[in-house]
Amino acid sequence: MNNFTFYSPTEFVFGKDTEKNVGELCQQYGASRIMIVYGGGSVVRSGLLDRIKKSLDEAKLVYCELSGVQPNPVDTKVYEGLELAREFKPDFMLPVGGGSVIDTAKTIAAGFYYEGDFWDFYCGKAKPVNALPIGVVLTIPAAGSEGSGNAVITNTKSHVKNGLRMPKLLRPKFAIMNPELTMTLPAWQTASGITDMMAHILERYLSNTPDVQIGDRLAEGMLLAIMEEAEKVMRNPQDYEARANIMWSGTIAHNDTCSLGRQEDWNSHAMEHEISAEYNVTHGAGLAVIFPAFLTYASKHNPAKVAQLAYRVLGVTESGDIAADALEGAKRLKAWLHDVLGMPVSFAQLGVDNPDLELLNTRLHRLKGDVMQGYMPLDAEATMEIYKLCL
Ligand code: NZQ
Ligand code: ZN
Repeated sequence: MNNFTFYSPTEFVFGKDTEKNVGELCQQYGASRIMIVYGGGSVVRSGLLDRIKKSLDEAKLVYCELSGVQPNPVDTKVYEGLELAREFKPDFMLPVGGGSVIDTAKTIAAGFYYEGDFWDFYCGKAKPVNALPIGVVLTIPAAGSEGSGNAVITNTKSHVKNGLRMPKLLRPKFAIMNPELTMTLPAWQTASGITDMMAHILERYLSNTPDVQIGDRLAEGMLLAIMEEAEKVMRNPQDYEARANIMWSGTIAHNDTCSLGRQEDWNSHAMEHEISAEYNVTHGAGLAVIFPAFLTYASKHNPAKVAQLAYRVLGVTESGDIAADALEGAKRLKAWLHDVLGMPVSFAQLGVDNPDLELLNTRLHRLKGDVMQGYMPLDAEATMEIYKLCL
């Protein structure tokens, strides 16, 4: 196992009705002027926003609102939020929603103290040194941003979708997680979220670091549990216990618990980000297309971990041919994503009939370098082969 540090200071407040405590929690973390951030209206329709405002009013907290964050959040909304923040001068950010809303709020939190263009953080020109504190009310288990120190934003001009990783600054102070809030999710968003959290585990599982049994077994156990609970949730979206298990899984999948002391991969995510940046597809759905293709390629070039996944999670029996077993694992995962979650597993099913693979691949390597390191080194020829496996 490699050396590591793990800093995860978030207070998770989990369960029914927990959003009613939001005012009190904000107070505990020193908030007096709050910027609420939310998306395209689901929190208004469900009545959640009203409940949150009531709680903030009761705690005598002042707030302003930034609404209209879109999935695959963009720089223009961050600029709008920064303008509002400079006027209102919040001392606390309160995103109410999923990864897109949280990441927008995190970026405003960091950009607030920076005089230059916040995009400098995303293109490596500058590092944030300070950020407003953040508290989260989560409405969709997927991106794991409620427990991560990361944010992902798309630049509308260059179509670059990139991440910022600053655990010390960007991990939320608290995350309120009420599984009941996720019952209004459309099946598509539920399934995309489940795919995303499985991918977050797989990106960590695909590692060449030896002797990482804890991480491996945690990941395998999580994947098995998620697959069981996912079947229940897809059958009955009102199943509270299954929703609760899925919600907590989304956090653990991405708060680094499964990746401590080991090399990680993240190349599937990089390949997907190119797809969602260009075609604005749902991140988890893009991963459902990329991941089986990535595992298929890995079966040929580095089958060990894929075969282990096949045996321990996907029910494949050892045949003596590790590459064939790994490939069978990739096929089973693909079938499960399609048959159980109803996810697309090709570009056409994703609604992208004629993907410009050259464009995706060129942008990918412009951002990530000629050879992307990870579970396998991937040059432009390799990533093109993976993109072609998605056709
Ligand atoms: O905008 P509203 O109307 O709220 O609707 C949202 C949105 O359309 C809807 N929704 C959320 N909660 C709902 C609901 N609809 C009904 N009932 C509810 N309770 O769901 C849609 C998707 O929301 P979004 O925030 O985009 O989902 P997600 O959490 O999947 O976030 C995706 C973004 O996170 C990034 C992705 O790339 C993508 O941009 N990621 C962020 C990461 C991080 N910060 O650590 C890591 C991930 O790998 C990922 O890259
Ligand atoms: Zn993801």
